[in-house]
Amino acid sequence: MKKTISIAAALLLAQLSFAQSDYTSKAKALMAKMTLEEKIGQLNLVTPGGGVLTGSVVSSDVESKIKNGQVGGLFGIETPEKVRKAQDLAVKQSRLHIPLIFGMDVIHGHKTLYPIPLGISASWDLEMIQKSAAMAAKESTADGLSWAFSPMVDIARDPRWGRISEGSGEDPYLGGEIAKAVVRGYQGKSLSLNNTMMACVKHFALYGGAEAGREYNTVDMSKIKMYEYYLPPYKAAVEAGAGSVMSSFNEIDGVPASANQWLLTDLLRKQWGFKGFVVSDYTSVNEMTDHGIGDLQTVSARALKAGLDMDMVGEGMLTTLLKSLKEGKVSIADIDLACLRILEAKYKLGLFDDPYRYIDESRPAKDILTAENRTIVRNMAAHSMVLLKNNNQLLPLKKSGTIALVGPLADNRRNMLGTWSVSGDWNLSVSVKEGIKNVVGNSVNIIYAKGANITDDAELANHVNVFGVQADMDSRTPAEMINEAVEAAKKSDIVVAVVGESADMSGESSSRADISIPASQVALLKALSATGKPLVIVLINGRPLTLVWENEHANAILEAWAPGTEAGNAVADVLFGDYNPSGKITATFPRSVGQIPIYYNHKNTGRPFSGTGSPKFKSTYLDESNDPLFPFGFGLSYTKFEYSSIHVSKSSLTGNEKLIASVDVKNVGSYKGEEVVQLYISDPVASVTRAVKDLKGFQKIALNAGELKTVQFEITPEQLSFYNNDLKRVWEAGDFIIQIGTNSSDVKSAKVNWKK
Ligand code: NOJ
Repeated sequence: MKKTISIAAALLLAQLSFAQSDYTSKAKALMAKMTLEEKIGQLNLVTPGGGVLTGSVVSSDVESKIKNGQVGGLFGIETPEKVRKAQDLAVKQSRLHIPLIFGMDVIHGHKTLYPIPLGISASWDLEMIQKSAAMAAKESTADGLSWAFSPMVDIARDPRWGRISEGSGEDPYLGGEIAKAVVRGYQGKSLSLNNTMMACVKHFALYGGAEAGREYNTVDMSKIKMYEYYLPPYKAAVEAGAGSVMSSFNEIDGVPASANQWLLTDLLRKQWGFKGFVVSDYTSVNEMTDHGIGDLQTVSARALKAGLDMDMVGEGMLTTLLKSLKEGKVSIADIDLACLRILEAKYKLGLFDDPYRYIDESRPAKDILTAENRTIVRNMAAHSMVLLKNNNQLLPLKKSGTIALVGPLADNRRNMLGTWSVSGDWNLSVSVKEGIKNVVGNSVNIIYAKGANITDDAELANHVNVFGVQADMDSRTPAEMINEAVEAAKKSDIVVAVVGESADMSGESSSRADISIPASQVALLKALSATGKPLVIVLINGRPLTLVWENEHANAILEAWAPGTEAGNAVADVLFGDYNPSGKITATFPRSVGQIPIYYNHKNTGRPFSGTGSPKFKSTYLDESNDPLFPFGFGLSYTKFEYSSIHVSKSSLTGNEKLIASVDVKNVGSYKGEEVVQLYISDPVASVTRAVKDLKGFQKIALNAGELKTVQFEITPEQLSFYNNDLKRVWEAGDFIIQIGTNSSDVKSAKVNWKK
């Protein structure tokens, strides 16, 4: 069996490398006709503005530059009409008629939005994630685009960092699996089909390691930590065939990523075999001047020599490379190589066969915001929600009685799409209030009250309202709003409070030093809790929050993230039990900011604290526990799953033998449900210190009430391996603790011994 697979894989690889060399020779033949200026023009990526900006600069004279062959690609414009106009300029009016590539920040859908990436990662549902990405590609290509600036695969252990919302959380294995699923979803069977698009893995690399969670801050980490925890998702995406990579804003070992030769050439190309092209982030080449490594000419030359092929917006390459060439700071071969990689990508996308391949004015009406797409994102949203608390089975709610629906996010379309929904129209999204009405009709009496502003802090509101008013200020006083909500609560059987963050309180440039629910909303929750009515909190937010008070006082908490276009419908599906929640958090929820960074796969230290006995001279805080509020992998269900102890096929193994570890999982509750069964392995003794445990596998299973399934994991030495001090991937003989469970803290264990 194994042999057949590897022969098939070898054939595929042979075909791919044939295709690669085919594109290469075509691109080289074209380059023979190009002037140096035209080659440098291909390295230039511009945005004409008009859409949502993601930096402070917009490109100028875009039209004449396209005609002069000074532009390789465009981003931030959409619709077949607009893309056609730009493509016409390149194909009909530039000397060599070289088509443009059209990119866009398609991060969690194009116009039909699914939840933010942190949300979809909580589904642990790779098939559904791939399907959502394929849907996004179909919508984007219908709008003239062929290049998505996604997946964002930065590992993040610090929820102060706003961009934790854009990735898959803290785990490298899960992050890698999701990265592959997204790349496959976008790129499909062939990049040249008109409903698939090129992926761009970002931000290469380690951007999520920003010190203190402050946006764009310095990153400094050991090579072992990089290789073991931060790099695997990028590598997985490259192995899945991602056509492009975006460099990150941060420095690595003192050299900013966009000019880091070790990163962009030695690691990415030589070690990982990446064959696509590398684009900078928005003006990240220019920003290296502020990092302090030279003027624009110096940093542009360094970027090119390091292996960066395309310069986003800053035009450092466009304006300085000829001078650097004359001064011997770059060579013609350096310029040729970058140009070649960009032209190859355009060949792969089929743009030379037909520059209008993705431009079809009849497609948007057929492919965008369709009923089918809305169904996909509604399902994706329901599968992403995580039930954090459910005392006395308060949820699911009955479809009868009176509910007080309160909170600034309860009757709010504006914030349902979340961060990075640049092409989405929030007016088309479904608010929670509307969703409840859609799902329960008139069978439930809803009394609505806003109850609070998202924040009463005008400065914070101004910060997050840059792209339009997301956090509005009501004309009433906070006390008037709270009173109205309390009156509603008193008249109701139950209170559902929809609270959290506005869309741009997470995402780029949205770090927070305090990650609690804003004070205005906490005051509302306290007043509601004081009524004594059962309180359900629905969270709309983009990061783990500190929720100690909420966890103590609410009866139920549902984490809904920023759920996307079908937000309200999906929230209602879950609240009223049409879908039984199955999400599990992929980033640890701390008890307090002081614990950050906090993550499940931490080291033991030489003075670990077991939780009992005296904490003196142990690794602890004087004023806080070491435990998180909710651990990685945690999430409840309306039903209950019971795990048997682990059964291992052998307790002693040698060499490349395989271990089968299994558990019986039984649904002992009364609802049908899905469970993410998680496999962790600990390696208590090794030549370098290891994490207390690492996720090594998972399976999402569905069980009817009363049903039992045996879940089996096959474990090979590959899953025991790690990077040693020489950065070699090895496994070392000894004991291993195999753990299977419902989250990273609640597992069943079995010890095995594995010899070489
Ligand atoms: C800056 C962001 O860091 C990146 O993720 C995005 O793709 C670019 N801007 C383009 O909008």
